[in-house]
Amino acid sequence: MPIRSHAEIYEKVPTSIFPDSATAARTLAQEVKQLIEAKNQAGKPAVLGMATGSTPVPFYRELIRLHKEEGLSFKKVITFNLDEYYGLSGDHPESYARFMAEQLFDHIDIPKANINLPSGTVPGDQVFVHCRQYEEKIQSVGGIDLQILGIGRTGHIGFNEPGSSRDSLTRRITLDRVTRQDAASDFRGEQNVPHFAITMGVGTILRAKKLVLMAWGDNKATMVAKAIEGPMTEAVSASFLQDHPDARFFIDNGASRELTRIKLPWLVGPASWTPRETRRAMVWQAFKTKRPILKLIDEDYNEHGLSDLLSEQGPAYQLNIRIFNQLQHTITGWPGGKPDEDDTYRPERARPYPKRCLVFSAEPQDAVVGMGGTIDRLIEQGHDVRLISLTSGSLRVPDSEADKFAGTLLELASNAVHPEVWSPQVEYAREALALLEEKGEFGEDPPLLRQLKALILRGELRDAAHTLGVSAEHVVFADLPFYEEGRYRRFKSTQADIDAMTRLLQDHKPHQIYITGDSADPSSVAGICFRLLVAALQACAGEEFAGSCSVWLYRGKERPLEPHEIDMAIPMSPLQLERKANAISRYGALSSLEKEAPETSRENARLYDSLGLAEYEAIESFQRWRRA
Ligand code: F6R
Repeated sequence: MPIRSHAEIYEKVPTSIFPDSATAARTLAQEVKQLIEAKNQAGKPAVLGMATGSTPVPFYRELIRLHKEEGLSFKKVITFNLDEYYGLSGDHPESYARFMAEQLFDHIDIPKANINLPSGTVPGDQVFVHCRQYEEKIQSVGGIDLQILGIGRTGHIGFNEPGSSRDSLTRRITLDRVTRQDAASDFRGEQNVPHFAITMGVGTILRAKKLVLMAWGDNKATMVAKAIEGPMTEAVSASFLQDHPDARFFIDNGASRELTRIKLPWLVGPASWTPRETRRAMVWQAFKTKRPILKLIDEDYNEHGLSDLLSEQGPAYQLNIRIFNQLQHTITGWPGGKPDEDDTYRPERARPYPKRCLVFSAEPQDAVVGMGGTIDRLIEQGHDVRLISLTSGSLRVPDSEADKFAGTLLELASNAVHPEVWSPQVEYAREALALLEEKGEFGEDPPLLRQLKALILRGELRDAAHTLGVSAEHVVFADLPFYEEGRYRRFKSTQADIDAMTRLLQDHKPHQIYITGDSADPSSVAGICFRLLVAALQACAGEEFAGSCSVWLYRGKERPLEPHEIDMAIPMSPLQLERKANAISRYGALSSLEKEAPETSRENARLYDSLGLAEYEAIESFQRWRRA
């Protein structure tokens, strides 16, 4: 029997970790190219199983490039998609039929007759027959050669939500609440997301000859680890990939974070005890033993596979104190640095004071949700804080809000003393209402409606900023073009975005920048914005401010930082927490994750307390971004 690596002992499905989604997508696209060519040479069509969502988008872009630049032909390719929302017709902007057309099929030479998707409009009494025919059609072409998969936060593949059995077949299912929440921004609010879908079953998927599941960003990390390392269970349908002889995971660094080889590397092989790894091991050990750092003893180290660390950096007493001090020094009430104090052990430098702080939000609500308490402190301590909303966020706003706003405007005008003065506004409101009517519940917003929705969010952000003491002139709306020209799960940034971001930096010349999205799916709004900042900083590399400016990463919708990852922990008093909650409440369309933000900062404080550091009501945490 071949010797299995330590990683393979934990990982029950072969897993490749790529530096980024683009590299993974290129690798997979090359494989697909070879598959198509080999099949075609044998005189057979290649049968591909397709997925939708944001995950496969870079892969589809690479397939299009292979077609356009390297002549890869899809004339003899047959495709079967995993799923479709039930109730949506093929031309609905959020239907998977339309998604596939826009993201792939319209750009390659695949014959229409070779494209197969479950129908979202088949009448209820014919769903069963439709699903059986879908299965039969897959079998009639010899089965799927390669099935592409993504994974949902419920662990689903296709739309096989928790509870789907190993042998389930194509059928209509009810979407899980979490899945509907994740689709909320695509549909401008959870209430608009369909409740049902038709999906291939787990059994259907497992019949494919090869399977590749892709996942990007750390929001997927927990489910990815459960699927790869956990037990095979109906609670996580992706775990059934363990039961397939040729299934693989292609993931990026963010999605790999919860795998044992990344999270607890000392259990898998010899660890290199860098300062961060040492901190990680100590924090993990403290949580595992339920002891504060200063109370860890030799036995704890030995029993948790850390005797190596102890012999390298011990004795325990001194190692404990060293790490305890490091963690203690992350705590500061002075996010902008404490003026006129020794800053040797403080996260932020004392000078210059006051600092110009740019707080970036990928979407208008992000900064207040992720670091409302810290904004409050920065202002209180006299810094010049500017909130920059990088995108308008207009795609998130439900029609009902635009309807309400236009209605109020009309009513105001009709009650005005001089109604004639209001005629432009009346015209605007009437046009907005007419457009809402015309496009229907699911139609795409024409520019006027997007503008109106953006205005609504502008008002909300100004209002939230005001409750934290940021004046209206320090709230900036950048309206980056990639967002204005795109849709969720398929945005594409260009040089125009980098230029806009670079101009922002040059105009404001910050001493400190706060941003999120470093570990997010690179195709998400936050992920795109973070990468644009990195590119803009590079473009400004020669300028004085860019060399000395510190960049702090906060967490918005993503997984919170773990204590060993935190470089700056800003404690919040109960009153500050209340102010933050109050600021958050100014936003109309928040996801449930965002609403939980005050609770997340309470949880941060509980973790610090259990490590024996300090007991606070809440903590907002930050990681220092280091330039490569
Ligand atoms: C879609 C599908 C789903 C998605 C999953 C992840 O056809 O089958 O399983 O792959 O929900 O969605 P994204 O990629 O948008 O995170």
